[in-house]
Amino acid sequence: MTDKPRKLRSAEWFGRADKNGFMYRSWMKNQGIPDHEFQGKPIIGICNTWSELTPCNSHFRKLAEHVKRGVFEAGGFPVEFPVFSNGESNLRPTAMFTRNLASMDVEEAIRGNPIDAVVLLAGCDKTTPALLMGAASCDVPAIVVSGGPMLNGKHEGRDIGSGTIVWQLHEQVKAGKITLHEFMSAEAGMSRSVGTCNTMGTASTMASMAEALGVTLPHNAAIPAVDSRRYVLAHLSGMRIVEMALEDLRLSKLLTREAFENAIRVNAAIGGSTNAAIHLKAIAGRIGVPLELDDWTRIGRGTPTIVDLQPSGRFLMEEFYYAGGLPAVVRRLGEQGLVPYPDALTANGRSLWDNCKEAPIYNDEVIRPLDKPLVADGGLCVLRGNLAPRGAVLKPSAATQSLLQHRGRAVVFENFDDYKARIADPDLDVTADSILVMKNCGPKGYPGMAEVGNMGLPPKLLAQGVTDMVRISDARMSGTAYGTVVLHVAPEARAGGPLAVVRNGDWIELDCENGRLHLEIDDRELEARLAKWREGQRPSAADASGYRNLYVDHVLQADEGCDFDFLVGCRGAEVPPHSH
Ligand code: FES
Ligand code: MG
Repeated sequence: MTDKPRKLRSAEWFGRADKNGFMYRSWMKNQGIPDHEFQGKPIIGICNTWSELTPCNSHFRKLAEHVKRGVFEAGGFPVEFPVFSNGESNLRPTAMFTRNLASMDVEEAIRGNPIDAVVLLAGCDKTTPALLMGAASCDVPAIVVSGGPMLNGKHEGRDIGSGTIVWQLHEQVKAGKITLHEFMSAEAGMSRSVGTCNTMGTASTMASMAEALGVTLPHNAAIPAVDSRRYVLAHLSGMRIVEMALEDLRLSKLLTREAFENAIRVNAAIGGSTNAAIHLKAIAGRIGVPLELDDWTRIGRGTPTIVDLQPSGRFLMEEFYYAGGLPAVVRRLGEQGLVPYPDALTANGRSLWDNCKEAPIYNDEVIRPLDKPLVADGGLCVLRGNLAPRGAVLKPSAATQSLLQHRGRAVVFENFDDYKARIADPDLDVTADSILVMKNCGPKGYPGMAEVGNMGLPPKLLAQGVTDMVRISDARMSGTAYGTVVLHVAPEARAGGPLAVVRNGDWIELDCENGRLHLEIDDRELEARLAKWREGQRPSAADASGYRNLYVDHVLQADEGCDFDFLVGCRGAEVPPHSH
């Protein structure tokens, strides 16, 4: 190359022969770093969500060490830094409550520091979108290295999947089929190695979305956390990010509209989590790519789900990797012309199709041929109607097909506490045809939009052998969960959406084929109920201060990705003024 090398942003710190350059280098040298490391090498940030409170990311210091080896080998200098870690299993009220907070941490840490490019170490559900959102708002060269899924769970001689088995066994306890002791005995066997949930939950979905978006090396999504090849991938990603820094291969060149369309198609094929609709919108918003809920209908609907993984199907992430992983899925789609933009650029400098067109496929049971799908039309179903003017979503691959067209009487719960207090009541007026409706679990209502949308069924119906019912709420649901569950109703009840005024006994029609969610009352009655609801609203005292106040005041609705209104957009990585 004859071009003059690009001036790196880290040179604004370390490349100076003045008082400020002295200060930047001198304090760094207290870590035992020799002077030559500051003479123009790309400085590679390793953004680490390691935490012992995020068990899914607890192996990330080892992962970071392998990234560092690659960075050194390619002639860069790695600097690891921690950011807020969103652990799905422990964080209350929900890890979603702090996704935007983490994204702010990431964005400001990148922009304010001598970093030329960044490796994003993400794993547990919200860590992937949080890191991509923050990095996208800076638009620096970035590559995601996921932590990888746990090994298959093992219990009483069979494979069990993260999360999914909890929902299944808990229903069996409530139906009186197993004891509480039997239920608890599955704990250790479900989570028997480091890594993220081994089902196609939100973590595996978002790792797959990152790979489909082109912001990872091939195979990032599925290699198990403890497989040596996960650490090879980390090493290679460390090598590649140094080149990306020199090439100025920024996120905006990868996170294009075309890449998002590819990801939506892939999400349908893998039977991915409904949470992807929220997170992809939030990431797109940060990089300035328009993306609407209806894009999921236009691009995703009609796509068969071909990956037979729990919660929609049978297998787990280990089998998915051994069967060929995400490149095999892209190959299957692409051979039938179902990858919308095969030429989309990816982190290794090649197109998505170049990376995947010859990908081996080792197991047709796990990654099925398109003509033998798990679900013929697996794209997320976007619903609209007078009950969800700004949309709602349902995951057909995890639903009961016969309930996708359904009319039923509403059994209404005002909030999650009300649901918990009454669901087991033997006198609850409910039948298998009823529709369970829960309010006030949306972004502002919970706040944080908890994963409570897959409300457990009334025990008296479980005992009768009922396995699924239509459920509607403004909540989310875990990517490991299943059922005919309408989620993300927007606007949410707390924001004055029509969900707020549904009453016990109202008839509701769910029509997935036509994307319709309809409350069967006339418009005048709906208006009158909404006017009365607004009069009765008082702000909650708990929302008056602290982060919760910021959250409730600024969180956008589900169809807008639940980002904070003031965080949407790309603010670049211009070097800020000196501090001294
Ligand atoms: Fe962390 Fe599922 S709880 S990935
Ligand atoms: Mg989850």
